Parts: sequence; C-alpha cells; structure tokens
Amino acid sequence: MEQLEMLRDDLSQCDEILLSTLLMRNRITEQITAYEEANHLPILQPEQEEKTKKWLIKSLENKRHAQEVMDVFNTVITCSKKIQARKLFDYNIVLIGFMGAGKSTISSYLSTLFAMDVVEMDEVITRREGMSISDIFEIHGEQYFRDAETKLLIEMQSRTNVVISCGGGTPLRECNVAEMKKNGRVVLLTAQPETIYERVKDAHNRPLIENNKNVDFIADLMEKRREKYEAAADIVITTDGKSTLEICEELVSRLLNETGKVKDIG
Ligand code: S3P
Repeated sequence: MEQLEMLRDDLSQCDEILLSTLLMRNRITEQITAYEEANHLPILQPEQEEKTKKWLIKSLENKRHAQEVMDVFNTVITCSKKIQARKLFDYNIVLIGFMGAGKSTISSYLSTLFAMDVVEMDEVITRREGMSISDIFEIHGEQYFRDAETKLLIEMQSRTNVVISCGGGTPLRECNVAEMKKNGRVVLLTAQPETIYERVKDAHNRPLIENNKNVDFIADLMEKRREKYEAAADIVITTDGKSTLEICEELVSRLLNETGKVKDIG
C-alpha cells in the first residue's frame, strides 16, 4: 500500500514536470513567433519541423512505448502551430480566385503549416446539400448555390483564425465581399489562362466550364471577373511557376507586412 502511494506521488511529480515544461514550451513558441514577426524573418520553416521529427525518431530508437511518446509529441507540435497561427492571424484568411487558381491547394498547405481549420466552401455546401456542385446547379439553379455561399460566409462571422477557401464565383456578389472583409483578409490567387487550363482540364466538377474547357473561354470569363476579383482583394499573388511553399511564404509575409496598409493589387 505504501509502495502504491509512493508510485502515485512519483506520477504526480511527472505530471507537474510535464505541465510546467509544456507551459514553458508554449511561451517560447510565442516568443519565437513574435521575434520572427518583428524582425521580418521567414515564418515558415518546414525544415525545422523535419529536424524535430528526425531527432525524435532517433531518440526513441529501441525505447519502450515509442509510438505513444511519438503521438504525444505530434500533439505538442500541432498545439505549437496553433499558438503560432493565433498569434499571427487574429482574423480569417480568405482565399479567392478563378477556378484552378490554387485556392484549395494553398488552404490545405496552410492548414498543415499552421494547424488552422480550413473551410472549403464548395465542400461544405456539397455536404450540406447532399449532392455535387454540378447537381446543385442542375436541380436548383445557380442562384440557389450563390445563396448558399452567402449564407456560409455570414456564418463565418463567428469564427476567426480560419482559412476560408471560396468558390471561384464567391467574390462576384458585393455582399459576399463585405462579409469576407468583416473579419478576414482577402487574398486573390491568380494564374494565366494557360496555367488554369492545365490545372482544370481533367476535372469534371465545375459546371461553368465543363463544356467549354479551352484557354479562350477561360481567358474570356477571367477577364469578365477581373475587376470584381481585384476590387475584393487586399493582396494579390500570382501563382504561375511557383511551388506551393513559395506561394505560402509570399502569402504569409505579405499578410504580415501589408495588412492594414493601402491596398496593393499590382
Ligand atoms: C465556380 C467555381 C467553383 C464552384 C462552382 C462555381 C465559379 O469553385 O464554386 O463550380 O463560379 O467560378 P472552384 O473555384 O473551387 O473550382
């Protein structure tokens, strides 16, 4: 019995050490983020995470409960990313742009880097309606789909620190843009019609271009939308020829450096 009491005491001590270590780790994470931001240093350092993971795997070689410890560390790393993201972005990051501009790819990568929640608007609407975008357009009509987009954006007012990946047509309604801007920074991703064509040519989930998949049609529709896209954007990022990491680096650095400044759509 006495031995059991002693073991329980030891366990409590471990918990105390864990608790204070975690609190200290979180504080340091905040300090590193603040330092990087203040000194305009690169925020994204995926290689740093790789280094930690390699160190961990090596340190856990032949250790008991290696997988369990690894799981805990993965959670710790995810928490650090969340702390970092909340410190950097106390607003939603709203990605807009033409079909195939890279909104989904970039939002999913941002969510890996910062453990931020992503609201993929097309996906949410598809789930809610229980049918594909093409079926929504065919059965209910485009206006119905557009109303669903507006409703979802209004719901986003109760969220912060979320990446919202809009549908290509979402910023065409002025009221949608007003909703985006209430608690979000709007990032326009652009690409040349030829690049867009290459990215969308094999997909069949976009009713507006399904029967017109060619560079001329894409260029024409893009031009018709250009003014509205640019008017909605706080920041514009071209994506042609850039890697996902390069686009995210540019996006983060411009959000941190330009947010609140005069609009730059050059
Ligand atoms: C649309 C773009 C699509 C989807 C719907 C309408 C548009 O989203 O919302 O097909 O009007 O440009 P993606 O931009 O994600 O393809």
